[in-house]
Amino acid sequence: MSSPPRILSAFLPGEGRRRPRAHAASDVSRVDLAGQWRFSLVPRADLVTDGFEMPGFDDAHWAQIEVPGHWQLQGHGSPAYTNVTYPFPVDPPHVPDENPTGEYRCLFELPADWPAGEAVIRFLGVDSAFTVWLNGVELGWSTGSRLTTEFDVGSHLRAGVNVVAVRVHQWSPASYLEDQDMWWLSGIFRDVSVISRPAGAIDDYFVHAGFDHVNGTGTLRVVTDVPALLTIPELGLQQVPAEGPHLLPNIEAWSAEQPRLYDGTLSAGGETIALHVGFRTIAVLNSLLTVNGRRILIRGVNRHEWNPDRGRAVTAQDMLSDVLLMKQHNINAVRTSHYPPHPGFLDLCDEYGLYVIEECDYETHGFALNGWRRNPSDDLRWQPALLDRMQRTIERDKNHPSIIMWSLGNEAGHGQNLVAMSSLTHERDPGRPVHYEGDRDCEYTDVYSRMYAPHDEVDAVGRLAEPMTANPRLDAHRRSLPFLQCEYAHAMGNGPGGLLEYQRLFEKYPRCQGGFVWEWIDHGIRARTGDGREFFAYGGDFGEPLHDANFVADGLVFPDRTPSPGLVEYKAVVSPVRLLIESGHVTITNLLDFADTAPLRFLWAHGSDGVAVAGGDLEVAPIAAQEGATVSLPTLATVPGESWLTIRVVLAQDTVWAQAGHEIAASQAMISRAPTRSARGGILSRDLFDERTGLLTHVGDMRVDGPRLDLWRAPTDNDHGAHGAPVESGWRALGLHRLTHRVIDRQWTPDSFVLRTRVGPAATDLAMLATYHWRADGEALVLRVSVEPEGDWAQPLPRLGLRMALPSDIDNVEWFGGGPGEAYADSSQASIIGRYRRSVEDLQTPYVYPQENGNRQGVRWARLRGSTNGVRIEGDPTFDLTVRRWTTEDLDTARHTSDLHPRDRVFVNLDLAQTGLGTASCGPGVLRQYELRAAPSTWSVILTPDQGHGESARQQERSR
Ligand code: GAL
Repeated sequence: MSSPPRILSAFLPGEGRRRPRAHAASDVSRVDLAGQWRFSLVPRADLVTDGFEMPGFDDAHWAQIEVPGHWQLQGHGSPAYTNVTYPFPVDPPHVPDENPTGEYRCLFELPADWPAGEAVIRFLGVDSAFTVWLNGVELGWSTGSRLTTEFDVGSHLRAGVNVVAVRVHQWSPASYLEDQDMWWLSGIFRDVSVISRPAGAIDDYFVHAGFDHVNGTGTLRVVTDVPALLTIPELGLQQVPAEGPHLLPNIEAWSAEQPRLYDGTLSAGGETIALHVGFRTIAVLNSLLTVNGRRILIRGVNRHEWNPDRGRAVTAQDMLSDVLLMKQHNINAVRTSHYPPHPGFLDLCDEYGLYVIEECDYETHGFALNGWRRNPSDDLRWQPALLDRMQRTIERDKNHPSIIMWSLGNEAGHGQNLVAMSSLTHERDPGRPVHYEGDRDCEYTDVYSRMYAPHDEVDAVGRLAEPMTANPRLDAHRRSLPFLQCEYAHAMGNGPGGLLEYQRLFEKYPRCQGGFVWEWIDHGIRARTGDGREFFAYGGDFGEPLHDANFVADGLVFPDRTPSPGLVEYKAVVSPVRLLIESGHVTITNLLDFADTAPLRFLWAHGSDGVAVAGGDLEVAPIAAQEGATVSLPTLATVPGESWLTIRVVLAQDTVWAQAGHEIAASQAMISRAPTRSARGGILSRDLFDERTGLLTHVGDMRVDGPRLDLWRAPTDNDHGAHGAPVESGWRALGLHRLTHRVIDRQWTPDSFVLRTRVGPAATDLAMLATYHWRADGEALVLRVSVEPEGDWAQPLPRLGLRMALPSDIDNVEWFGGGPGEAYADSSQASIIGRYRRSVEDLQTPYVYPQENGNRQGVRWARLRGSTNGVRIEGDPTFDLTVRRWTTEDLDTARHTSDLHPRDRVFVNLDLAQTGLGTASCGPGVLRQYELRAAPSTWSVILTPDQGHGESARQQERSR
């Protein structure tokens, strides 16, 4: 048997490729090869099709496949998800003989006016290793799945019809370098094109556009490999030699807040390239990361490329949606975890304004499971491949003003190859700092970066009081560097909690310059049940023998890009305008680094019981970046109910990323309390209660079950705590999901009923003594619950509340309280006290892995109504509310959203509190102040029969 081909056995990154160069928007002729190609998948690399590359090969019986795309998402093979683990034996550089190999063929025609001369074929992304033939002639092979490869097509291109053949291996030595936490998906997943290279065309160019913030001068140098002419009409540059340097006074600098671009062209030898020049200078100065001389605060996210149907073959619309959603949620930075994105994404970052840390396509995390033995980062045989990756990252994207830092990769341990990658980067582009989180000593990096550092560590870093890292010699140097969290606040499932406390630290300590939430999007794959209901699949759903389940669904947006409550919370926490409402005035702080508040309107509204009674605009003179102002508030009328003043900061004009009226920030202050309820008294009817259990059975005519004490919540991913301190295991061990209730005694008086119970799980003597005090108040039923823990409850409780069930026709909830979205103790910054109305369905948050969700905090009253019946529930003063068509147990056992089936009851929780969320799915747990500890507690709810809303479900649907 012959030995495997070099592509499957060599440490080399490829052969026959062109040298990397800038990705350019050029006017030369180009044929785009996106579309339907012929395709065949064989299960082993030694079963490939002889002669498939020949133009005359008959591929009529082959399947069709869409390029760009992944074969696993088009009916060939299946996706597999692992986080750290390699899904093949760790035996570098070898890969299994079972190596699915895709063979692609594409016929294309050159247009009649195709110019004579050279041309290249360009692949923007092929996973993981591929060989290319044109008209039967091998051009070369390459690796580096998320990196551009070009081959000269030389004399092999013909007038008329041409045939490109590509053989792609799922596994290759390069797979060892691409162990990112994501789906293993193969194929030609980014664009392919054939590009003409007229004689004397610009092969490569490097735009250096610095900004002197002291005198406002820009310095422009465009270095080209052939003499080229530069034109930027706005700057008075007309066909001038590109390199300059051109000293340009009165430049408007580029920043994420004010992404000013100067459009122009670069031309030579029959090629013209469009330029969008942003002048800015990035530097680490006095321990601070600066843009144009100012410290910036990063409000970032980690972005993988994802589309729930297309995988990493994202569309232009996906990229634009990401950028728009980020801008609309006050995000100003992206780490392209963990590879260079589609180049189109960076154009959008330049244009819309997002700072970018661009990361090299490099991760070897799986070696950690083997004690980092044979890690490529420290094995010289891999050095050419690693330098190739770094070089291709920089060369492709060096002309983007949005990129403020290069990152060597992610979780690749240590070693001389990383040092060499850093040197290459510094040498080629001294204008951008180098990042690599794995370099804890900052020996060869320019910023001190951590992931998931808990709040107290960030606080210590801010005070320069963090413990020494491994190398004392380097410690002083590291301490002189700016600090950022390249990953923090793991957004898996319900959460992250504790964002506010991080943000306050970033604002408090100049050295702590913010961070990037992990991560932007859930990588769920859209799937359907046998009966056609949609859900999002995750690891294990495709029969993978090794997988990391739903750890792939940990984003701020759902797979279909619907914002999750975590994103809404992040937006509120990182809002660049802070409002502090005090009696008679509001103090406004502009937390931006460059822009003033001139584009913003400040709207006030005075609401009574959630209904607006007065409102208008506040007069606010523009506040400069990092400045504040105090503004008087209008005199507010005295109103009868509980009243609040709400100030919303909105865009005054349309921008490219949002319309006028788009909200940037909001804040509230209570102006007057609700009057205390005067008790009317009344006779409490025994008929409303079950004689044996003592539980309420009716509110008016409506049949109900409960309420009774409950401590359980369907554990969140953060409760589960895969990579943190789990609380779920302790809760289950204690049996909080299987409480039993025992009536101790019942006491009836004409106007009250007192039911004393002991509530506890089997096998333990820990319990809660729960006493329900009922009395009548007119037609209302007033319930005061007192809970007394018995024994030593060491762990925090999931919840402390009541659960009850109502008839299934209840479909509509109106409430006065926190909203509109869900909120939890440590994730409540976006919650605004107001009056809201939602259907029961709309109160649910469809986390990819079902878990606790939908809690509305601080509810004063709620009306839960169906077409004929209803109940009004009041707090004294407030309670937390969830309303669902399934039980907590259903939610707990469901593995996918499609496992949740409406029951014939509506289940309602009326809670005193829940423990916070934290981020223990990867990182710190719930901060102490947000833990719910067992303690003697009392709360009240008042239940009053209410009318039905009289609407059919269809009418309601329409009025929504
Ligand atoms: C980090 C890693 C990410 C992701 C995250 C957890 O360690 O860099 O790629 O795995 O943890 O979701």
